[in-house]
Amino acid sequence: MKDFAGKVAVITGAGSGFGREFARIGASLGMRLVLADVQADALAAVVDELRERGVEVIGERVDVSKGDQVERLAQRTKEAFGKVHLLFNNAGVAAGGLVWESTEKDWQWTLGVNLWGVIHGVRCFVPMMLEQGDECHVVNTASVAGLLSTQLMGVYNVSKHGVVTLTETLYHDLRLANANIGVTLLCPAFVPTGIHASERNRPPELAPDSEPTPSMVASQKATEKATSSGKIGAEDVAKMTFDAIRENRFYVVTHPKILASVELRLQDVVAQRNPSDPFTFKKDVAVKPS
Ligand SMILES: NC(=O)c1ccc[n+]([C@@H]2O[C@H](COP(=O)([O-])OP(=O)(O)OC[C@H]3O[C@@H](n4cnc5c(N)ncnc54)[C@H](O)[C@@H]3O)[C@@H](O)[C@H]2O)c1
Repeated sequence: MKDFAGKVAVITGAGSGFGREFARIGASLGMRLVLADVQADALAAVVDELRERGVEVIGERVDVSKGDQVERLAQRTKEAFGKVHLLFNNAGVAAGGLVWESTEKDWQWTLGVNLWGVIHGVRCFVPMMLEQGDECHVVNTASVAGLLSTQLMGVYNVSKHGVVTLTETLYHDLRLANANIGVTLLCPAFVPTGIHASERNRPPELAPDSEPTPSMVASQKATEKATSSGKIGAEDVAKMTFDAIRENRFYVVTHPKILASVELRLQDVVAQRNPSDPFTFKKDVAVKPS
């Protein structure tokens, strides 16, 4: 997709971080926007900011883990603008700790938002795009956590590996269907956004029943440290993503140095040897349970 003016973009997790920057770039390119987020105040602030700039934008409070709410979002998009051209399945949360200490609620919350959110987005919006027949593009936000299996991030890793294979399969299936729909898989490493404070949006029914274990605390501290010291900003990530959409490019790995670890992991698979330490090339960010 090279021309954006007048086209319709749907962005989940638009109230903060990458989502907000996708919205700002979309607005500057003259797009009409459907912004979705579970955090109403953050969403309203972005909608107000863009309306003041004269952008045609609607904001919908949506929990992407709930299929009926994403179906309603698709309906609202149709009612407001008639079409969708560019979809960002981007909303996400982070939870960590030793994999056997993660609770059922941790799994439900994280897989609900990060994986089911993308599943619902694909299931509700891709058929609309196919029916339209015009040029469209889907961006799914995974993470380098979808390409590696780093310690103390099991729940998050599982959710993001799911997004990676879902998105690669979507790419192949769309080619099979001769569809005019491009696909981009966004895999950032640590970037300063609101991700370290994901608990702010954890629904009460999935709130933890007990104090966090030392491994959960260690993981949280490591995420805070790594994201706050990230050198690339959310705005840079959003720019790289729009470049990929323009070039119809699938993989966007925002921190290419990490590809050495990805390659090592894949070499382990091919050689059928035991997994190497994912931090072999990045000892400074390795996390240890205290
Ligand atoms: N920041 C990083 O270091 C990093 C690295 C790799 C991948 N990611 C991924 O990038 C995406 C965007 O995260 P971010 O870093 O901008 O964090 P962020 O917290 O700044 O933004 C995430 C947004 O998602 C929203 N959200 C949370 N739960 C939701 C739900 N159930 N339904 C709808 N919206 C919900 C939040 O309210 C927030 O506005 C996520 O998928 C995240 O996993 C982030």
